[in-house]
Amino acid sequence: MAANQALRQLVPPSLSAKVEGSFAYLTVRDRLPTILTRVIDTIHRNKNKFFEEFGEEGVQAEKRTIGFLSKLRNELLTDKPVLVLCDGLEDTDSWNQYLQRQQRLLGERDPVSWFKSPWLYIECYMYRRIQEAIWLNPPISDFDVFNESKTQSFFESQQAVISLCTYLQGFNRNMDDLSETQLMEQFHKLLQVSLWGNRCDLSISAGMENSQKASPIDSLCDLKSFILVDDSNMVWSALTSAQRPGEDGKTTPGRVDIVLDNAGFELVTDLVLANFLVSAGLAREVRFHGKSIPWFVSDVTSHDFQWTIRQTLAANHKWMSKSGVQWQSYVREGVWSYHDHPFWTMPHEYCDMAGDAPDLYATLQGADLILFKGDLNYRKLTGDREWDHMVPFDRALRGFGPAPLCSLRTLKANIQVGLQPGQGENLNTQDPSWMTSGKYAVVQFSSPHREQ
Ligand code: F6P
Ligand code: MG
Repeated sequence: MAANQALRQLVPPSLSAKVEGSFAYLTVRDRLPTILTRVIDTIHRNKNKFFEEFGEEGVQAEKRTIGFLSKLRNELLTDKPVLVLCDGLEDTDSWNQYLQRQQRLLGERDPVSWFKSPWLYIECYMYRRIQEAIWLNPPISDFDVFNESKTQSFFESQQAVISLCTYLQGFNRNMDDLSETQLMEQFHKLLQVSLWGNRCDLSISAGMENSQKASPIDSLCDLKSFILVDDSNMVWSALTSAQRPGEDGKTTPGRVDIVLDNAGFELVTDLVLANFLVSAGLAREVRFHGKSIPWFVSDVTSHDFQWTIRQTLAANHKWMSKSGVQWQSYVREGVWSYHDHPFWTMPHEYCDMAGDAPDLYATLQGADLILFKGDLNYRKLTGDREWDHMVPFDRALRGFGPAPLCSLRTLKANIQVGLQPGQGENLNTQDPSWMTSGKYAVVQFSSPHREQ
């Protein structure tokens, strides 16, 4: 135990824009300002809408918000000190305490600033400042600056959504005839669909269209060799071993939590997977965890979650709308539920969760399996640090393990652990952008009992 603790304290530094030319540096220098410019443009384009809804007050709010955001952009570009938040929201104090924590780590000589601090912190901080700018400017405080791009990405992937829903309804009709092996094969397929759904995020493309066009099931075979670590058999075992004998003699499956990432096509792939888990008797309940504020351009909020189900239900396609009806009844019956917590939009590494958000940690402990979707969740799971590629996933989690968990992630940031000897070097030679292009993926599992 003492040896484990000593090992955990030996952690590499955080990725940071202070390393010139690094992916973090390029993100902070180029991609984040581009995202801010797009946000400003979106607010400006909605001026008439604000006028129609709120009259002159709406127009004044639009102007003030743009002023706030232009100042923010300038602070970023000129590496100004990170400022305290002053919007009095539920998480404001925690953010300001986190800033003090960063200052202590840096020492008193330099102020915490955009290019000198951990990338994870700075990137999260930018989205939180966007929220502050909107929130401090009523009456437009509820405006989701990313809503347009999220809905557009949903509509642009309609064909892929239809083919996925048609596939889902096809085996839902034949579920009783499926053997255990066939069930397992379907599980692997839909887990992979949910994995590759993560390619469609709008943060890596700085808000540019990035939707799924091809039929997702047909692409799986070609994509298989791009999965660098595939622990999906362990995920299957975690699900099947969570089944317990119920009072009536029948087996009761466990609870699966999905920590969501992006709206649009990715969310549909998660809902399809969740539908399969319930209808195949692999989960009795699915809890979805999303964001309480607009986040990293395309992340799911409560509104996006409900909107997606309503849109699917209202679709002019038999199997798509049947899927939507099913999803809505799962929500009504409480088989599915949506949850948010301020911790998901804080900059903390997840190993801090037990100490900094004990209520959320305790909630997650009730799950039999937690699926963490996407790149940002991976960065937080592993602390966004300069780990050697061969460090085991369990070790990079640094004690985080409320329940058996699995990361489903396409690689969009230069961090990757749990590889075989030589695997990272080979990839560096074959494809220098392997960690950031979204072309590769991992399914990495960890169970609290497997901690090293
Ligand atoms: O650097 C790419 C990036 O903007 C990261 O900041 C973030 O990890 C990722 O894109 C978002 O991806 P995802 O939606 O998969 O979390
Ligand atoms: Mg995202």
